[in-house]
This record gives sequence, C-alpha cells and structure tokens, in this order.
Amino acid sequence: MSADELRTKAGPYGYVPGEGFTTTALHHGHKLDTDNRARAPPIFQSTSFEFKSAEHGGQLFALAELGPIYTRLMNPTTHVLEYKMAKLEGAKCPAHGNCDNASTLPSALALASGQSAQMHCLMTIMQAGDNFVAASELYGGTYTQMAYSFKNIGIEAKFFNVAKPDECKALINEKTKAIYVETISNPSGTIPDFEAIAAIAKEAKVPLICDNTFGMGGYTCKPLSFGCDIIVESATKWIGGHGTSIGGIIVDNSSFDWKVTNADGSLKFPMVAGPQESYHGGVFADHPIFGVAATNTVFILLARVKTLRDMGGCISPFNAFQLIQGIETLPLRGKAHSENANRLAEWLSGYSEYVKPGSVQHPSLSSHPSHELAKKYFRPGCYGSVFVFELNGEGAEAVERGKKFISAVEMCAHLANVGDARTLVIHSASTTHQQLSPEQQAAAGVKPAGVRVSVGYEDFEDIKADFEQAFKKAFA
Ligand SMILES: Cc1ncc(COP(=O)(O)O)c(C=O)c1O
Repeated sequence: MSADELRTKAGPYGYVPGEGFTTTALHHGHKLDTDNRARAPPIFQSTSFEFKSAEHGGQLFALAELGPIYTRLMNPTTHVLEYKMAKLEGAKCPAHGNCDNASTLPSALALASGQSAQMHCLMTIMQAGDNFVAASELYGGTYTQMAYSFKNIGIEAKFFNVAKPDECKALINEKTKAIYVETISNPSGTIPDFEAIAAIAKEAKVPLICDNTFGMGGYTCKPLSFGCDIIVESATKWIGGHGTSIGGIIVDNSSFDWKVTNADGSLKFPMVAGPQESYHGGVFADHPIFGVAATNTVFILLARVKTLRDMGGCISPFNAFQLIQGIETLPLRGKAHSENANRLAEWLSGYSEYVKPGSVQHPSLSSHPSHELAKKYFRPGCYGSVFVFELNGEGAEAVERGKKFISAVEMCAHLANVGDARTLVIHSASTTHQQLSPEQQAAAGVKPAGVRVSVGYEDFEDIKADFEQAFKKAFA
C-alpha cells in the first residue's frame, strides 16, 4: 500500500485534516508561552509553582481552580507529553480545550516508568480483596509485579491464555475489577482479539486495560479504537525511541462508566466513584469540573491527585522533555522500524542454514498465529518490531548457539531493552524472564533457545551483515 493510500485509509489510522498522527506528534499539547515565545516546549525544572495569593493556593489545593502546584502532581513540561500521548493514542480528550493547563488537564498521566504507570493505574481502582484477570503472556517485570507484589498487598492477579478469551471469562467474579492485556506479547508476538475481550469486559462491567508499549504509542496500534478503556505503556521504548530516558504513561479513553453498581446496588468501583476519604469525603465523580457527567476524566484525575500524590512515582520534567523530543520523530521511526522488522523476519524465516524453520515469530509472517489479528487491528504494513527466532539445533545445543550468537554480534547491542533506534538482541529465558519458572516461561511464550531481536532502523544490509557474521561464529 502506498503512503498516500495509508494516509487516506478510513479508520483509526486514517488521515484527519489538521490532526494526522505526525501533525499531532509535532504540534499538539504545547501552548506557546506568550512572554518568551519559545517554540520547543521549555523544561520547567522546578519542584513548585508560586501561588498568586493565599486564596489562589487554597483554590488550587481544593481543585476548584487548575494550575501547577508541585511537580510530583503536575508540571507544564510533563503536561505537553501527556496531552500528546492522549491524542496519539486516540483518547477522546473531552476536557482538553486548548491545552492551557488553567482550564484543562490532560486525560493522560505520565509517570516515572512503565512499571510505575501500571502500578498507579491498578492502585487507582483496586484495593485489598479485589482481583483482576491478566493475559499470561506479559513482560516479565509486569508478571512479577502482578503475581507477587500485588499479591503482597492483597490484590490477586489471575492469568489467562490471551489466545483463548473464554478462559478470561471463566476467571471473572464479583471482585474482579479489570481485564489486562498487552498489544503484542513479548516474545511470542501474540495479539489479543481486542473486540472479543472488550465484549467480555463490557458484560462483566470492568474496564479493559491494555499495555500498548509494543503498539508504539498509537503508531502501530490504537487499542482504544477497539474497545479498550485505558492504556498503560512504557515510554522508555518507542515513544522516547533513543534508549535515553525511562518513563511511563496512562491514557484514559473516558469510555468506562465508573458509577456501575453491583447486584446489591453498591458501587462496584468505590475507589473511583465513591467518596474520597483523603479529600474530606468528596465525590470526584460528581465534581463540577471533573465529574463523570461533565467530562468523565475522573479516573485520570484520581490517578494523579490521589494515587500519584500518595505513591509518588512521578517523572522528572527533564525526562518528559526527552520523551517529547522522541515523540516528534515517532511516526518516522515507527515506519522505519516496521519496514526493517518485516524484512528481517522474512529473510530469517528463509535462512534454514542457521535458523530453525518455523521458529521466526513475527506477526508479519502469514504463518504467525496472530497474523490475521494484526491485519485487523494494526496500521497497514506494521506488525511491531520485536520478534524471536531460534538457531538450528536440538535442546541445549540450540540454547548454546543462541547465546554464542548474541555474544558474537558486533553492531547490534546486547542489552535488556526494546524500542531503541538501534537493533538490540537478548536471550529472554536467561534475562528478562529469568525470574519465571519453566512452566511460567512456557505460559509466557518464552522458548529456552529463543533469541529476541528488537529491530532498529540502521541500514537493513548492515543488520543482515552483522547477523551473518554472528551466525558463522555461533556455528563455528
Ligand atoms: C511491554 C512492557 N511493559 C512495561 C514495561 C516496563 O517499562 P519500564 O521499563 O519503563 O518500567 C516493559 C519494559 O520492558 C515492557 O516491555
């Protein structure tokens, strides 16, 4: 499909005049400061912001008036990142206005890391005794956060095979408060059937939360367009794009009705829709500016002024600035990453001299179990830029060759990250997913001999040449 055809394709990836993905990445969210007229978003590296008067301070703390108070909660540089991400992910942004921070707040919240975004998101809606149902194929750190750290505070994560949505349905009970999936499982490349899982979430009256890290901040996939209510994501990866800054984002689509009730008429989400003990019993869902009926940004507001206030995982304005810089080239990088990943997957899948036939797990390949779902839900031609392959050999021999290959690459970097501009390789079973048992690794789609590659956008022939020389050494 040509670039023009892509731009005019109807649907979430279609072109909207003045609001295209690239235009949004460059222009949205930054209101020119009228005193200095700085074109790039300035870095407001200030912990606090002066009140105009005692009354003004009181109004800000009472949330009766908007404006920055303290950088743990809100910061003008960070707001630019938040406004951009909300729009790029396709959130409805009902309260955005002109992004002036005096009458609006973003319907996204930036945090210190992807892990922090997940934690603040889930802690905003759940308390001890609650549970949630999550895909078993998750980033290793997410799995341990959910299976162990959440368990320690009385919140249970139950895991289901994301390729079998009915398994998810069977795990839901009256204490279930969310369904959680990842756009593209790492390393297997499994893609959820968003619409099928959203239907289950709707029936169960729980929000569908998606980690869209691998969806490249809305470039490759926009899960909010297919029934997801909330996005969490690591901005450390493709959003920042250069491997310099850790950050995380939550985006709220304002699509979930937090006032839903249980069979006995009690609130199903008292943490969001009920009175807030730490705000003198105020009901944010009825707030004149932020209430459900008014703008429905109540979830992200509570994530900010309650969870982030108390848990404190804020991002620094400098990192927010770095991530904004990354976003400005996200559409260009997203395209380049995708093209190289498709080419590399195709080349490796035909390279039977070194690569185990059928082992390349990239959704661009028609043999991949999620290929059709990728075509249904992703931007045409984009299938993500991370995949796994195995070197020829059986059992321990294949594992050893995989490790040798990783040690032998010269241009590609051997490290624990994805979404860097550069090509990265790693052995998942002994690193990112090391803390999982063999059974948990299998459920997470981690193969003992799998080499994971996060394809960068170097000249394709150079990636190929580095792989070729490393293959030779691995088989020497
Ligand atoms: C899919 C996914 N989600 C979340 C995270 C955690 O993000 P961070 O490292 O920014 O905390 C990662 C990290 O690799 C990830 O790959």
